[in-house]
Amino acid sequence: MFIGLVFNFSKYFYPIRLNNYTSMKFYKIINIKKQGHFFQYHFYLLFFLSLTNFTLGETVSKKISTDLFGLFFEDINYAADGGLYAELVQNRSFEYNPTERREWHPLSYWDYISPGYSIGTISVESKSPVHSNNPHYIVLGIELVGNYDEFDGQSGIGLKNSGFDGIIVRENEKYNFSMFARKLSELPVEFSICLQNSTGKVIAESTVLTNSQDWRKYSTSLTAIENCDSASLVILGKNTGLVALDMISLFPDKTFKNRPNGMRADLAQVLADLQAKFIRFPGGCLVHGDGLGNMYRWKNTIGPVEQRIEQRNIWGYHQTGGLGYFEYFQFCEDIGAKPVPVVPAAVSCQNSGGTWRIGGKGQQILPMCDLDVYIQEVLDLIEWANGPSSSEWGKKRAEAGHPEPFKLEYLGIGNEDKITPEFETHFTRIYEAVKEKYPEIKVIGTVGPFHSGEDFEKGWQLANTLNIPMVDEHYYTDPNWFINNQNRYDNYDRKASKVYLGEYASWGNKLWNAIAEAAYLTSLERNGDVVYMASYAPLLAKKGFIQWNTDMIFFDNVNLVLTPNYHVHKMFMNNQGDLYYENVIQKNDADSTLAASCVVDSESGDVILKLVNASNQTKTMKVDLSSFRHLTKEAKLIVLMGNAEDENTFENKQNIIPSKSQMKLQKKFNYETPPMSLTIIRANTN
Ligand code: AHR
Repeated sequence: MFIGLVFNFSKYFYPIRLNNYTSMKFYKIINIKKQGHFFQYHFYLLFFLSLTNFTLGETVSKKISTDLFGLFFEDINYAADGGLYAELVQNRSFEYNPTERREWHPLSYWDYISPGYSIGTISVESKSPVHSNNPHYIVLGIELVGNYDEFDGQSGIGLKNSGFDGIIVRENEKYNFSMFARKLSELPVEFSICLQNSTGKVIAESTVLTNSQDWRKYSTSLTAIENCDSASLVILGKNTGLVALDMISLFPDKTFKNRPNGMRADLAQVLADLQAKFIRFPGGCLVHGDGLGNMYRWKNTIGPVEQRIEQRNIWGYHQTGGLGYFEYFQFCEDIGAKPVPVVPAAVSCQNSGGTWRIGGKGQQILPMCDLDVYIQEVLDLIEWANGPSSSEWGKKRAEAGHPEPFKLEYLGIGNEDKITPEFETHFTRIYEAVKEKYPEIKVIGTVGPFHSGEDFEKGWQLANTLNIPMVDEHYYTDPNWFINNQNRYDNYDRKASKVYLGEYASWGNKLWNAIAEAAYLTSLERNGDVVYMASYAPLLAKKGFIQWNTDMIFFDNVNLVLTPNYHVHKMFMNNQGDLYYENVIQKNDADSTLAASCVVDSESGDVILKLVNASNQTKTMKVDLSSFRHLTKEAKLIVLMGNAEDENTFENKQNIIPSKSQMKLQKKFNYETPPMSLTIIRANTN
């Protein structure tokens, strides 16, 4: 038992032969005790630590990324509009149009109604909109409000919207309605605002009087008297007049953290439960878009919602931008995740399918003459996120309600783009500009859509040439690939760019897929000194609105289905560490269906073991914890297991869920890993 010390009296002590875990604690305490009797404190501290935490055996540890597992969020499968974004009205701004879908138009998802034999008109106008970014609105002419004894419902001229497959309403809950209106006739128009169930019964109601000749926002709230899973919002003009309307909106009062313009609470909560270290947004292919005009431009998505520029979603629907950059950053902060925005590299998606209207376009390159302006837009994003509220863009963040900086650390440039010479030029210009002005920002480059191949090679060459801090690898593939490639990162050059595995999934949501991923995730932990970040993709998918079939969470308006993949990722995300230990778990290394990792979270002092068995038989692993002192006698045990083909469905949501218990802990023990399972053993050392 030997502890060597080198004293550097001017500043610090350097412990030799203490393992990393010990060193971490040592430095932490040094930081606290920096002031005062320097020499004395440190000598006692080191002596104390030497008795408590040092390596007895030959267990080797290394520091790994503290941002390893996070989330990938893209507005695909109606993940944002109709999903996480809590707006209940579909096409609130009358901006749906045929370039998105051949059959769509500004009145899509709205019904013009005239109950009680009322007489009126409706037209779509664009002469004098709420804002030039939001050009379409409707004009309702109320000529006659029916008044017949034999009609016992509400009469009037108006509109009905059933949201995204019906509006969910819960008894006694409040719903916040708002709309922009401008009266075009002499008299003010009174509107009845109500929620109706599927039989037309009014289950919540209020009124609004539109009396301004200029566009003005009118708001009211409705409280539901009963539950309904398929309600409609109905607004009815109740007296003669002509009125322009736009941005007709309804939000549940209870959004996640009660944020206005906020997130659907149940969906946001299951994301928060993951305890992700970061969220990447807004995509995916959505970032580089379908042609240059469809690239995601962050500035279009901030400011008052009625002034945001809406656009066609590359996945074949409509983006309101209501869930925009402010909301993304705010959500990251709300759930304790670092924001990882990805901006286009000034080229569009090479796989652009286009639409029936525009046709496929392939990779388009922003003209050189526009590049400087675009680069400034990227720099402005960093100022918007991190600049003081006195700066031009920081001021806009402050005005939106967040005077403190958002502490942006990472910025992705490009999304699995084709690595053409033009891409390389554009990327390099943007990257160099960011590096020069904001050297503290860790830029993430891109290396194509596959785990190998031409774009992968060229992307890495560019990364090596430019010394890009990190690159974004993507791969969706067979579960066996994940089992068979667990050594992928073992030999990656530790001095080259770090890896952000920004999109991956095995094809499918059965337990077998999730367990294959779990095996692979242990290899990411083992390589957490080179793989800095990883995020499964895509995250969300709304039943009936799906463009990409393997997803982490499926949902409809009422239900959430957390896939086995969700549970595996939650188990990893909830149990991240910053030190990786080798030689703690022994298994048959020739058996690729077995995988394991051991990490320590030096904040809590917890030792965390992950043991994966991706076979159909029980198999034994040997655990040796003798390197860790002061282990508690009991550990937390979490096990996810079942049959390879098991999955969670809307009919059986809880088919595969982890079980939690306690286990007695010994220094050395054999653990019988159940067939097709992930086990987490978490023990404390304090
Ligand atoms: O995650 C779905 C899509 O897969 C992403 O938009 C894209 O980047 C990848 O090809």
